[in-house]
Amino acid sequence: MFSRYKKPSDAQPVQQPPQASATETAAPQATANAVVRKPVQKAKGEVVGSDKERKRKERLGEIKLELHRELLENLNLAALENAAETDLRAEISAIASEVLESRNIILNREDRTQLNKELYDEVTGLGPLETLLQDETVNDILVNGPQQIFVERAGKLEISDITFKDEKHLMRIIDKIVSAVGRRVDESNPYVDARLADGSRFNAMVPPIAVDGSLVSIRKFKKDKLGIDDLVNFGAFTEEMAAYLQAAVSTRLNIIVSGGTGSGKTTTLNALSSFIDDAERILTIEDTAELQLQQTHVGRMESRPPNVEGKGEVSPRDCLKNALRMRPDRIIVGETRGAEVIDMLQAMNTGHDGSMTTIHANSARDGISRLENMIAMAGIEMPIKAVRSQISSAVNLIVQASRLQDGSRRMTSITEITGMEGDVISMQEIFKFQRVGLTPDNKIIGHFTATGVRSNFSERFRLWGFDLPASIYDPTTM
Ligand SMILES: Nc1ncnc2c1ncn2[C@@H]1O[C@H](COP(=O)(O)OP(=O)(O)OP(=O)(O)O)[C@@H](O)[C@H]1O
Ligand SMILES: [Mg+2]
Repeated sequence: MFSRYKKPSDAQPVQQPPQASATETAAPQATANAVVRKPVQKAKGEVVGSDKERKRKERLGEIKLELHRELLENLNLAALENAAETDLRAEISAIASEVLESRNIILNREDRTQLNKELYDEVTGLGPLETLLQDETVNDILVNGPQQIFVERAGKLEISDITFKDEKHLMRIIDKIVSAVGRRVDESNPYVDARLADGSRFNAMVPPIAVDGSLVSIRKFKKDKLGIDDLVNFGAFTEEMAAYLQAAVSTRLNIIVSGGTGSGKTTTLNALSSFIDDAERILTIEDTAELQLQQTHVGRMESRPPNVEGKGEVSPRDCLKNALRMRPDRIIVGETRGAEVIDMLQAMNTGHDGSMTTIHANSARDGISRLENMIAMAGIEMPIKAVRSQISSAVNLIVQASRLQDGSRRMTSITEITGMEGDVISMQEIFKFQRVGLTPDNKIIGHFTATGVRSNFSERFRLWGFDLPASIYDPTTM
């Protein structure tokens, strides 16, 4: 087994005692020694417990680094691609045993298991990141150089105790990720966007642009995206708001989800899409495919940045233009941030009702300004009034997603666009989140409320069979 993944001739194998070719041969000896030595360690440990523990960890860290190096030098990485997991784990554990034995290092079972796991992650996966990627409670992973990894759990950022050995180690993992998707990152090409094999969104920027070591951000892919019910249960919005949104999506209003970074825009868009009828043909366009639509008839597109030579770009706008020729009932654009805004608005205005997208903005009004800016930046010279009238006739609804200061994510506003008054786009807020205070431990106190304004689309809702009770617009009933 050992030879199968081992580099052929040039490798410098770990010193190998004549018969110690597998774990089993090394294990009994190690265990026997461990049994003899352990009590002694423990007795001392009682006096200087934490110090001992720290030293032990340090030593383990050193062994690990050395083993990582040996493994990378000795394993035939190309052969690993097709290796079965159990084979590979056994192989790694065998190599580790040999190295440990050749150095007279004895580890207890727990440390060995941990060591083998880390080595396996290092060889096959993304090293230290692997543990975080597998941790279901982690949403985002943010690396600021090799020694600092922050994670987001339940909306809150916290520092993790996981680190890389050094910048070289971090760079090796980054390289591994980007080369797997046929990209490159180096001094002349210092940043990259990619999608990990599990669907997670990955962005990296390396020195010298990243001053203190490479910066990496990963938005973990959630296999089970939060649905409408989950979001209602989490207090992201109320059942009344959900009923309103269902009517809005089903009756094909054009909807923009607006929000800041990580505020839950994509999650909201995904949840809203669940209201789309299964008979409709939906085309989605994203930079990184994150949406998980449940319908049967879905065509997914992923735009592509230019390659190293600056060629091969397929912009979101290209995808969108093409999508319009593909007979969609609805178009969903993951995020509108550039020139594709023109085609998006046009699509919304010309028969692709029920289209949806997200934009980066802090309020509905701000969202409108963003759209105006994007149109201006796209080089369209149109009087502002014409731009606004285009927006106001295209967009029906702006849903605001926010991440509040206590880490909770809420739909802080649902606003309808009602038309133009003079040069200004008129809108009316239907639901909002009313903050009233802060608990001593900095949790936000507040509640959702209707504003008392009845939807402009009530009649449309009714005609389409979504006869919402008048009470949902009543601020006193929520
Ligand atoms: N209401 C919610 N409650 C709890 N977690 C949520 C909620 N909404 C979103 N999340 C989680 O927050 C993270 C960020 O959500 P999402 O990707 O939807 O944000 P985004 O606004 O699209 O971010 P970006 O600006 O980076 O595209 C995800 O891990 C998601 O599962
Ligand atoms: Mg998003």
